[in-house]
Amino acid sequence: MTLHKLFPTFVYCNALQKRGASEFNRQLLKECLQLRHDDAAGRRWSAENYPDGYTSYGSVHWLQRISPTFKSLESKLARHVKIFAKAVEWDLEGRNLKMTDCWISIMPKHVVHGLHLHPLSTLSGTYYVQVPAGTPGIKFEDPRLDRFMAAPPRKADAKRETRPWGTFPAAAGQLVLFESWLRHEVVPNRVAAERISISFNYNWF
Ligand code: NI
Repeated sequence: MTLHKLFPTFVYCNALQKRGASEFNRQLLKECLQLRHDDAAGRRWSAENYPDGYTSYGSVHWLQRISPTFKSLESKLARHVKIFAKAVEWDLEGRNLKMTDCWISIMPKHVVHGLHLHPLSTLSGTYYVQVPAGTPGIKFEDPRLDRFMAAPPRKADAKRETRPWGTFPAAAGQLVLFESWLRHEVVPNRVAAERISISFNYNWF
């Protein structure tokens, strides 16, 4: 008997760099806080779309083009993106995965990031700048969930690969990569401290 597992969903987790992460994160943190301070349009957008939090998604979402620090983040991400593309066995037909968007998200207490996917993108991910103890990770939803219909629920102690949701903890200096169609969320932050992350999209077309 052989029990096959078909159609895997890839989620890549790794440290961005082997050393120097805390120094790099200090600079990123400084720029994230400065941007929130300067970006009135983004604060207005966040008040509408990201209550009590701040994101530059609706205002400054190409940080890799305007900040050398974020440009450096893009360079550091390149080898991880390459590994992911190889693992998924994408045939990019000679084209490159290019970073199209890069934005920051600041989640104070009670802020939630509801279920969403990243339309018009190929590969997406997040890099964690500041993750106070007890702040949430990223939660992925089984992309086949709407087809399960009468399928039985999974056991409470089921392996992560058979559960309908999978959560990966966040940690400063770590990154996560996934295909942009994979729905995900960040559950409410219950801690009185700000969780700060940088998200990005890549396109091959
Ligand atoms: Ni997202």
